[in-house]
Amino acid sequence: MELLLEGVSHAYGDLPVLEGIDLTVRDGEILCLIGPSGSGKSTLLAIMGGLLRPSGGRVATRGAPPDGCLNPLTYVFQDFALLPWRTVAGNVALALEHHRLPRGERRSRVGNALAAMGLGEFAGAFPRQLSGGMRQRVGIARALVVRPAVLLLDEPLSALDAQTRDLLTEEFLTLWRRERTTAVLVTHNLAEALRLGDRVAVLSRRPGRLREILTVDVPRDERSRPERAGRLAEMSAHLWSLLRTEAQAADRELADRR
Ligand SMILES: Nc1ncnc2c1ncn2[C@@H]1O[C@H](COP(=O)(O)OP(=O)(O)OP(=O)(O)O)[C@@H](O)[C@H]1O
Ligand SMILES: [Mg+2]
Repeated sequence: MELLLEGVSHAYGDLPVLEGIDLTVRDGEILCLIGPSGSGKSTLLAIMGGLLRPSGGRVATRGAPPDGCLNPLTYVFQDFALLPWRTVAGNVALALEHHRLPRGERRSRVGNALAAMGLGEFAGAFPRQLSGGMRQRVGIARALVVRPAVLLLDEPLSALDAQTRDLLTEEFLTLWRRERTTAVLVTHNLAEALRLGDRVAVLSRRPGRLREILTVDVPRDERSRPERAGRLAEMSAHLWSLLRTEAQAADRELADRR
């Protein structure tokens, strides 16, 4: 399923946050979204997911969701948002609570989502008994259990240490290769964006406009090869310079207003 944004703008009261965003999230791609802090990334993701109505423009989907899809657009949150009094399986089943499903299907969906994230043996554990990385795997399993058409991930790895983040990035890729779920990933981490993304969309300083969409022109399977490091470093430097320019301009504007 594709997600189409046309002229999307948003303001909170009289604070303009997004302006004129035209963007198509293509079927089966991972689109990474970067931009300075406060540029409206989380706002844009909330608009994509239908949690927030944009002040202007429109969001539409094109194409059919996958078989068995209960929620076309599904979130994974930064802080995992697990209920401490529920087991791992109970937290994953939470996403199914508003859907009338036969008990057998409920059970098999939860079982499959846990297995996909390597959590099969932890179904009965409580969140406090898990590491941070495992908790976020529960967060991803909870998103997968509805078989979403588009996964919306708002800095899902940023609460984790660097090593766990790398491991989870690779796990996420393994999963994605199997399911090819369309995904939009907000991240502050350029290496992560260039490891995962088919494309990287860069938002300007607030009000966020699309500065650029960079196609990562190194095949995903070759991105850890030493001979590709040069091209990836070039793209990283380019993205970094865009971000730096935006952040410096934002600082100047702030200084001018004082
Ligand atoms: N519910 C809200 N009400 C009013 N203002 C808001 C609300 N949510 C966000 N904002 C403001 O809108 C702007 C954009 O916020 P948003 O969270 O979308 O940015 P972001 O790019 O995700 O930032 P970060 O990188 O820090 O997560 C910020 O200035 C923020 O203070
Ligand atoms: Mg944010």
